Amino acid sequence: MNIDVLPTAQSATTYDFSGKVSVIIDVLRATSVITSALNSGATAVYPVSTIDEALQLKKTLSSPSLLCGERNADRIEGFDLGNSPQHFTPSAVCGKNIILTTTNGTLAFSNSLASQNIIAASLLNYVAVAEQLLCLSSDICLVCAGNNGTVSFEDSACASLILNHIVSRYPRVRVLSDFAHTIVPLATLPDLPTRLRQGQHCQKLVAKGYSHDVEFCLSSASQTSVIPTLCYVSSKPALTIVQSDSNIYSA
Ligand code: MLT
Repeated sequence: MNIDVLPTAQSATTYDFSGKVSVIIDVLRATSVITSALNSGATAVYPVSTIDEALQLKKTLSSPSLLCGERNADRIEGFDLGNSPQHFTPSAVCGKNIILTTTNGTLAFSNSLASQNIIAASLLNYVAVAEQLLCLSSDICLVCAGNNGTVSFEDSACASLILNHIVSRYPRVRVLSDFAHTIVPLATLPDLPTRLRQGQHCQKLVAKGYSHDVEFCLSSASQTSVIPTLCYVSSKPALTIVQSDSNIYSA
């Protein structure tokens, strides 16, 4: 089993994904939102890159759907929900499709579609994701969404936690790129949750009034076994649940 890590959504455009299981990571906040929405009973989450694509998709879906997402961290004008995971409650999303467009996270999905399988990870579900990857036993690419083409601390740290979990169970895994080797020690940094709060995107979210989202997304206390997994619904890529037996809102 080989494991690689990409630093940004943009770096995925030139990567060879053939035969790989890809894990998209956007801790703040897209993959935390996707996990929360499915955990709350959303039917499926459709990740799209642009606002226009989101509006077009809404016209084609027959079942009830919500337009969700952000630009510059704020809810897009006219959309039902922004990118705050705690707003994706059962009463808001249960039984509905979520059409989600975000700056980096949903772009990482679009740029990785050549993968054999795609799943979404965040600090909310990284243990379940790592266990699932061990079961699948395929070559893995952890795709950090990053922040507008630059590395982000929290995505790299989440990749490191997944990588270290896998290596601890299967030491013969081969770590490929220099970036993958570089992020390995992050998981063992003392007081990682506090350090993550110093990350640039984290600071921006706090400054814009989204500190509740930061606390929710960076807390690994509320682990869930939800593993958002990409499939095609009416030929559109959508994330649905493969496995769920816990509720992150019940803690
Ligand atoms: C993104 O996809 O860029 C993020 O989810 C941005 C955000 O925190 O809203």
